[in-house]
Amino acid sequence: MAENYKFVDVSAAGPRAQDFWPTVVVPRKAIEAEIERLASIALPSTGRRASTVNHPHNTGPVPAFAPGIDVTIIVLKPGEQTPPIARNSCLVDMCIAGSGVAHIGAQEFGVSKFDVWNTPSMEPYVYRNNGKDLFVRLSYSNAPLLERLEVHYFDENPKPRAVGADSPLPPVNGKRARDMAEVIDFGTQGAQMLGYEYLIDIDTVDSKALIWPWAEVEKHLEKVYKMDNSYTGRHLYVLYNPATERRIGTSHCFFATMAKYPPDKIDQPHRHSSAAINYYFIGHGKSAVMGQRLEWEAGDLHLSAPGWAIHNHGSREKGFCALTIQDHPLQIAMESLIWQETLKSPIIKLGSQTGFDTNLGELIAA
Ligand SMILES: [Fe+2]
Repeated sequence: MAENYKFVDVSAAGPRAQDFWPTVVVPRKAIEAEIERLASIALPSTGRRASTVNHPHNTGPVPAFAPGIDVTIIVLKPGEQTPPIARNSCLVDMCIAGSGVAHIGAQEFGVSKFDVWNTPSMEPYVYRNNGKDLFVRLSYSNAPLLERLEVHYFDENPKPRAVGADSPLPPVNGKRARDMAEVIDFGTQGAQMLGYEYLIDIDTVDSKALIWPWAEVEKHLEKVYKMDNSYTGRHLYVLYNPATERRIGTSHCFFATMAKYPPDKIDQPHRHSSAAINYYFIGHGKSAVMGQRLEWEAGDLHLSAPGWAIHNHGSREKGFCALTIQDHPLQIAMESLIWQETLKSPIIKLGSQTGFDTNLGELIAA
């Protein structure tokens, strides 16, 4: 019988050179044309009008715009409602046109232009367009990674949860089997052996859909917009979901930040192993990514930082607003998030080593 495996001698192999996916800008006009096309087709049997942006370097089994991140344009015409679905990928969405209602897990909320929200994994979700215009959203997920791992699970017929219902996993009353499982200490450095029950009864954190309405976010952005151009940090807020704890995410895989840059502010060149995708929705600006210079404007979608590629972004005379999605919490969970805040800074493993400083203290004191 033929062997169904082989050995690959890697004794002499050095580290594999990484294929940094080149920076790509998908212009506003192309996105608008795709939205129009989706709105013009007969409603597919899936009940969804959706188009995922594919990067030319993608070799994965599903479309992706960064190796571990997909961005899907999803359109609902007035009166349309998506059938419920649940999946073990998690999502972050931004409404880019119209308005609608999102029913995610036991939460239901209205969404309108530039609102951002998350969808926890395995929560059934349904969207409906109760307005008069097209309801369009950009939906970001970690599906490309799960598809690579061949573990992307879908439930195409989940029972939507009642709005306001309790968690499907109520707190356990009384003793857990885990509390009786053995714990054996090894040495003085913290190593232990634990009984099997520890593997199948993990401590839980409440993971639910949260929304950051643009009308509220916008007010706060004025503060970062007005910060002095000598600020060495970024003019933004991260949309923090407490379920992500110290990994500072919006979903368990991604952070979303909302930035408002003053005119003529140029960030320092830097790099991080997390990949970043920017959606610009006000103003315009420019970037240098792996030595390539480019300009962009409101409505463009940009693979702005392929993981570990040197890059920096800056505003032009109008300033800009951007949503950035980055697979930062995922990388912290993997202990792979390396970061170099300027090209003269050390390479730091964020989450295990002391992080970087900005001049915020000096600016506040001044
Ligand atoms: Fe960056």
